[in-house]
Amino acid sequence: MSDDLANALAPRLGTRWLGRPHRHRAATGSTNDDAAAWADAPHGALVTADLQHAGRGRHGRVWFSPAGAHLYASVVLRPAAVDARWAALGLAVGLGLREGLRSWCDRIALKWPNDLLVDGRKLAGILCEARWQGAAGHIVVGFGINLHATAFPPELADIGTTLETLVGAPVDRATVLAAVLGGLEPRLEQLADHGFAGMRRAYESVCSSIGAEARVEIEGVPSDVVVLGVEDDGTLRVHRTGEGRDEIVRVTAGELTAIDGPKSA
Ligand code: BTN
Repeated sequence: MSDDLANALAPRLGTRWLGRPHRHRAATGSTNDDAAAWADAPHGALVTADLQHAGRGRHGRVWFSPAGAHLYASVVLRPAAVDARWAALGLAVGLGLREGLRSWCDRIALKWPNDLLVDGRKLAGILCEARWQGAAGHIVVGFGINLHATAFPPELADIGTTLETLVGAPVDRATVLAAVLGGLEPRLEQLADHGFAGMRRAYESVCSSIGAEARVEIEGVPSDVVVLGVEDDGTLRVHRTGEGRDEIVRVTAGELTAIDGPKSA
């Protein structure tokens, strides 16, 4: 166990419950797994690591997690009951992270459902995983934020960016972590108390997917769509065309792939 980030975070943390308690490891497989395995972790508990051997992203991808270069964090949520409002968790988390990062960069866009992009390059990603058995369970919210301007592997060089690159100066990991937890806490409370509807407009106003021409799988069928908006439950409203179709449909999950057009996802 390494105490570095835990010691540095404590005096900076302004949240009431998020990030408390905090376990930091020098190296681990995945902080999401550590958070899930932390049997008595209370609501808001935080796990971070300097490096992940098996960091993972959405759709089974690997999350590039070299030592000390970036921020790898997972929080445990224990909602009283998991109902429909939690389907929009990733969107609320994206908004909270964005708001926490605002003092470093105020032009972060959210790509539906939960990527943080600047100029089309990925700054941060979110992986929410729920483990539920009957009435008992928890949700783990993992996020990775690219911080330091270390070289990305060739396959990421053109698609990623780092906070340090955007700011043009070194950034302090503990200060960033404290700020994003501070941005997240009120959005998580809002989601738990009132659902996503009250933040839908805020989300739409920074969502780069809206207006985009994209390809997305709908009920197993790869479909060409124009993104129209986000619904109160966090689903995407799209205009689906091609192969004789001309319809407005909702997309509950998936990934938007850019296709050439005036505005790409
Ligand atoms: C994505 O954009 O595909 C999601 C990336 C999520 C990465 C974070 S890093 C901390 C936590 N631990 C993991 O293994 N994944 C998440």
